[in-house]
Amino acid sequence: MYSKKVIDHFQNPKNMGKMKNPDVMAEVGNPQCGDIMKFYLKIKDNVIKDISFETMGCVAAISTSSMITEMAKGKTLDQAMKISYNDIAKELGNLPPVKIHCANLAVEVLQKAINDYRGK
Ligand code: FES
Repeated sequence: MYSKKVIDHFQNPKNMGKMKNPDVMAEVGNPQCGDIMKFYLKIKDNVIKDISFETMGCVAAISTSSMITEMAKGKTLDQAMKISYNDIAKELGNLPPVKIHCANLAVEVLQKAINDYRGK
């Protein structure tokens, strides 16, 4: 039911782990499934220089976290804010409809991190 790319990102996640001294850290959880995502960002001159994640969740939650961190790295904050569920699904080769909320969680945590950073 998962594409090969989803499985790849689940088995070999990119940018996984806690970051030392991030400029911002954000966390979101999904009360329905109990999954939690934490994102760490280093930002310089409005550009995401480094990003990593810790996700406790399902296959889709981990692979979308991995994919969105790859997509966001090197982007400006404005560009990263625009990454949508559809962009992730396109890169991953589609997700089963029941897993859409998992990708949305990854979008949400990235946007929260950027908003928190801007609000500082
Ligand atoms: Fe909860 Fe995927 S089932 S994030």
